[in-house]
Amino acid sequence: MTRYPDLVARQRSTQWYGGTDRNGYAHRAWMRRGLPEHAFDGRPHIMLANTASDLTPCNAHLNEVAEAAARGVWEAGGVPMNVPVTSLGETLVRPTAMLWRNMAAMTIEEMLRANPVDGAVLLGGCDKTIPALLMAASSVDLPALVVPGGPMLTGTFRGQPLGCGTDVWKLSEQVRAGLLTEQDFTASESSMIRSRGHCNTMGTASTMACMAEALGMTIPGVAGIPAPDSRLLESAHAAGRLAVEMVAAGRRPSTVLSAGSFRNAIVALAAIGGSTNAVVHLLAIAGRAGVPLTLDDFDEIGSGVPLLADVQPAGRHLMEDFHRAGGLLAVLREVADLLDPDALTVTGVPLAAQLDGARIWDGEVLRTRADPLQDAAGIAVLRGSLAPDGAVIKPAAASPHLLQHRGRAVVFDSIEDFRHRIDDPALDVDADSVLVLRGCGPRGYPGMPEVANLPLPVRVLRTGVTDMVRVCDGRMSGTAYGTVVLHVAPEAAAGGPLALVRTGDWVVLDVAGRRLDVDVPAGELARREPPAALTAAFATAERGWQRLYIDHVLQANTGADLDFLTGASGPEVTRDSH
Ligand code: FES
Repeated sequence: MTRYPDLVARQRSTQWYGGTDRNGYAHRAWMRRGLPEHAFDGRPHIMLANTASDLTPCNAHLNEVAEAAARGVWEAGGVPMNVPVTSLGETLVRPTAMLWRNMAAMTIEEMLRANPVDGAVLLGGCDKTIPALLMAASSVDLPALVVPGGPMLTGTFRGQPLGCGTDVWKLSEQVRAGLLTEQDFTASESSMIRSRGHCNTMGTASTMACMAEALGMTIPGVAGIPAPDSRLLESAHAAGRLAVEMVAAGRRPSTVLSAGSFRNAIVALAAIGGSTNAVVHLLAIAGRAGVPLTLDDFDEIGSGVPLLADVQPAGRHLMEDFHRAGGLLAVLREVADLLDPDALTVTGVPLAAQLDGARIWDGEVLRTRADPLQDAAGIAVLRGSLAPDGAVIKPAAASPHLLQHRGRAVVFDSIEDFRHRIDDPALDVDADSVLVLRGCGPRGYPGMPEVANLPLPVRVLRTGVTDMVRVCDGRMSGTAYGTVVLHVAPEAAAGGPLALVRTGDWVVLDVAGRRLDVDVPAGELARREPPAALTAAFATAERGWQRLYIDHVLQANTGADLDFLTGASGPEVTRDSH
């Protein structure tokens, strides 16, 4: 049931373009510029919310995708409006793209609300862009669907496949361990990005494309189509057509997004071994859509779901293989009994009813339910004296022997502090230590960067050890791997007990028991003072978005949205400027 039935009955754009008064004249006249008169006869105007940008290389091809979507809109009797919206490139934006996700969502929301559009095609790709688009569309609740930009093709280096993301971490660790020369490392650089598209592991971009599909917010079967694949343009064309049909049907995000669709997303997240970043993004989208979703739902719904996709970083293959092997629909067909049978998609048909034709075409890449890579692969939610409001770990990307671990903390107050000291010969650290990095949460950094997958000390790497337990209030890249406890809440800079841990304290990780504790008596912990360095970053942010963000950002366990952005404003804007 739509939240805005009155606006379904009357075309929203007609509020601008209809009528013979001065305002209707002005709105039409300024928009004519080659558009025919009948473009303003009440037909749906569809915004192509386009995150193409030269500074977001993963999305740079979206202008061509938008052209395909525009053809679909015209064909179905609508009018496309290509609108550049805030774009975030993961590799370039400082201090971290996550600082700007909520800003992107807010600006996209307001541009949808402010302009004469009746629906939207949401064109995203790089990590934060699909979450921001979905958050915005949920708050506006105009008919909308996502077209994911798709992953790049598999790179090759010296005859071997080269993925972007996970392989970069591995190669850089090899350099630090003295196993690879810097010249060879640099030589691999031009081999990695073989084509247009976003990262080709099951990193955050691919994960969020799959999440959009599992939520029902794409045409089923599009997530994972490689960016250069002509089927992407065909899908964009179909999405343009469907956007117009959705306006006619009054089918909106509030029609599609439900507790059932988030259940489907959580099941999918586990089965594909998706990024931990999806937890924060799905919580934020649910907060916009008014769907009650908690951190514990990820554990309750997802922890028993088998891992079926043998894709990096949890597995071996890359997204091109994932798509060729059958893609998300083939994975979901294997776990169909775990899905909500009624959760709708933008097509108006439930997701679960669109799986019959899906098949696994390559059992090396996608496994059957009877032969999973892991029996229980979902994200585990930990609580305890170090994380009263929760923390997450992705067991599928962790070392099994470290999932139960007790080690002495080596504490760092910032990522700069870590980089400065981690290879100091005087630092008392060994393979059993627990590396604790704080000051990296939403407020503390600010922006919750992807730094939690800390590089291991060189002296440990040189013993052949490749994983250690790490604990952080920040995030980690979806392409990363390791026994990393992240999203610790409350973060250190928001008064969380992580601020009180000292080097030498015993930290106890018990993933099976869902615990993360520091073995220090509660009374002693309460007497300790947090280091002043933890508040330095947000104390010096005096103006602009950073100030607004620091003052209003919520903690990771509820999605790290701004407190005043949760919920919906809806599409209605009645006042005009003339
Ligand atoms: Fe854009 Fe990885 S840098 S998806």
